[in-house]
Amino acid sequence: MKKKNKVLVGVIVGSRSDLPFMEETIKILKSFEIPYELKVLSAHRNPAETSEYAKKAEKRGIKLIIAAAGLSAHLAGALAAKTILPVIGVPLPSEPLGGIDSFLSTLQMPSGVPVATMSIGKAGARNSAILAAEILSLKYPRIKKRLREYKKKMATTNLAN
Ligand code: RP5
Repeated sequence: MKKKNKVLVGVIVGSRSDLPFMEETIKILKSFEIPYELKVLSAHRNPAETSEYAKKAEKRGIKLIIAAAGLSAHLAGALAAKTILPVIGVPLPSEPLGGIDSFLSTLQMPSGVPVATMSIGKAGARNSAILAAEILSLKYPRIKKRLREYKKKMATTNLAN
């Protein structure tokens, strides 16, 4: 029986309503063959479970966490408060402020608790996966190889348009 690959990236969303954005992240993680898990956990609606997830992630072999939320987006910060793993935050757009609210909530962390904050919405969702690949490529040559191919293809496609 084929051994299941160990999860390297935890992708956490604050609500099921965030999933359409984070499909962009998942697509790229899959294309790089990065083992991931996807969970719905809210910093406000499930504070205890969110904290538990972050506390246990490192021991489970997870190397970094991507956290996406909208509105008053404390998810990435709440996770970062409970782990020394890198946390990448994706601010998602929502009514009525269009994502500026979640962007500032994710970005403006106090000193000592960083969150690598992406741009708002789908571009940020994509970049979260690429940044994850860049971090993991420091340890995994197979991911570095795929990353180089991805960048090369992106450059060629851009010139062709
Ligand atoms: C945030 O509130 C979630 O991340 C989501 O973006 C937003 C709205 O959530 P729902 O009311 O749609 O569940 O916590």
